[in-house]
Amino acid sequence: MTNLFHPYYSRILDTIGHTPLVKLSKLYPDLQLRIFAKLEAFNPGGSIKDRTALQLITHAMENGKLKKGDTVVESSSGNMAIGLAQACKYFELKLEVVVDPMVNLQNVKIIKAYGGKIHCVSKPAPEGGYLKARLDRVQEILDANPRSFWTNQYGNPQNPVAHKQTMHEIVKELDFAPDYLLAATSTCGTLMGCADYIEKNHLETKVIAVDAVGSVIFDTPAGKRNIPGHGAGRKSQFLDRRSIHGVIHINEGECVDGCHRLLHREAILSGGSSGAVTSALQKIAPSLPVGASIAMILCDSGERYLDTIYNEEWVKENISQLENVLI
Ligand SMILES: Cc1ncc(COP(=O)(O)O)c(C=O)c1O
Repeated sequence: MTNLFHPYYSRILDTIGHTPLVKLSKLYPDLQLRIFAKLEAFNPGGSIKDRTALQLITHAMENGKLKKGDTVVESSSGNMAIGLAQACKYFELKLEVVVDPMVNLQNVKIIKAYGGKIHCVSKPAPEGGYLKARLDRVQEILDANPRSFWTNQYGNPQNPVAHKQTMHEIVKELDFAPDYLLAATSTCGTLMGCADYIEKNHLETKVIAVDAVGSVIFDTPAGKRNIPGHGAGRKSQFLDRRSIHGVIHINEGECVDGCHRLLHREAILSGGSSGAVTSALQKIAPSLPVGASIAMILCDSGERYLDTIYNEEWVKENISQLENVLI
């Protein structure tokens, strides 16, 4: 972090983390809660996944699994791929990402701009759908190139490790441990890294996971999901339910509603999972003690969702559970 004696960073990757924590006083003015948002869009690649990507890459480099000129391989079309693309460019590594036809084209352009190569699988695997098809392609790329390395965000234990720092920052910036932490889930790296920090430091913070309706992480039925980021079609290898205190499932109407609430009340243009945690807070608010402090992690910005969440036509066509949306 910059300070008076070193008023500049030595490299772009050092600007990852130490994102601003902002008090949200206008979001739910009727709730007697102290709400703080960790704005992960301030990371240089635009999302919380910069932290994960940097941890996975630096750990592999430090342990001799990856060196300059090698190829990093990952199945991701979203924030993780962008975080990896940035780190790979800086460390002079090659990157090959496997996506499927549902990919967001703006993300593809960003990944390519950083020099990443895109492989798009054309059809789902007979059993296991696009997820299996993408992982099969990852394996083919790894088999064909002895100087390749799979970051494996769903299985690499360095993923949650990255987020001990995320929780550390929240506690240091507040100068106290919040009563509640709300975190959106996909790999559960963020959730479990924060939970681990809380446990190791004997903090009283209660951890609430925010998942998407249609996601299978917490054993709820699989369903179609139109909003990327949070939710997953596979179980998390990191999740330990004993470390968390609750799970809230948010449907896509509520998710869009949360995004527009953040925009209209707080002037924060946020991504889908931020809308989900915002609506999750509203759902649990009646059960929270007066004056409770809440930290919520806002994982990315709305700029990657301008054609979806912030496009009225798209919302009307694709989101079925619209009731009170503040569009
Ligand atoms: C926007 C957004 N929110 C939430 C998450 C979930 O984070 P995690 O994979 O650490 O559970 C992701 C993961 O890619 C994301 O991109």
